[in-house]
Amino acid sequence: MEPSMMIALEHVSLSLKGPHGQVHILDDISLKVNRGERVSIMGPSGSGKTSLLMCMAGLERVSAGAIRIDGTEVHTLGEDAMAAFRRDTIGIVFQNFHLIPTMTALENVAVPMEFARRSDAAQAAKAALDAVGLSHRLNHFPSQLSGGEQQRVALARAFAMKPKILLADEPTGNLDQETGKQIVALMLEMHRNSGTTLLLITHDKSLAEQCDRLVTIRDGKIQ
Ligand SMILES: Nc1ncnc2c1ncn2[C@@H]1O[C@H](COP(=O)(O)OP(=O)(O)OP(=O)(O)O)[C@@H](O)[C@H]1O
Ligand SMILES: [Mg+2]
Repeated sequence: MEPSMMIALEHVSLSLKGPHGQVHILDDISLKVNRGERVSIMGPSGSGKTSLLMCMAGLERVSAGAIRIDGTEVHTLGEDAMAAFRRDTIGIVFQNFHLIPTMTALENVAVPMEFARRSDAAQAAKAALDAVGLSHRLNHFPSQLSGGEQQRVALARAFAMKPKILLADEPTGNLDQETGKQIVALMLEMHRNSGTTLLLITHDKSLAEQCDRLVTIRDGKIQ
């Protein structure tokens, strides 16, 4: 793998058992993403965008093909090794934020760093929330935050771990247009400051166009 390459998918296919038998979800996908690159992924509902992201994150096992991330053949890793690799390498941001409801903003951001045994977790969490403009919301619970604020917490949580890759699955899907724009602007700013590699799934063409490259998926295939 060339040193400039961060993600390489080679002939990846994914089939899962549905209620009516085997469903072919991803079909012979090959894709290369360079270090630091920003790639947006678009495609109709059900085309396989989330499934592709789940395969990259090792949360779904590919049925065929190879996935190499930063030189590691992730499709060959066992559960524990995959979890450790994901923790050290990949940040994920979801449409519905995925914050822990019983924890404050500060605790939500600190928890992954505590799992990674970082002794400065609380301090780093504070700094991360400061960077997303939430220093006045540290002790609020998710239910006490707006959607945009919750997504800022999720971004702070992801970036605080200094991931090599950030996978974002419709991070603006639950937000109004203006708030969505602000979240993407923030994400791109954090991308610039961190040099992470960014994959952004979105249905919004104007957001997708802010990335370096647009990949379109249809019926599990790259167009
Ligand atoms: N666990 C599963 N078992 C069976 N089929 C699944 C499973 N997960 C997803 N699928 C199917 O795979 C296809 C792709 O789903 P996926 O969630 O990747 O689409 P998507 O492009 O992210 O769509 P959306 O834009 O609506 O989020 C769909 O037809 C879906 O029903
Ligand atoms: Mg999806």
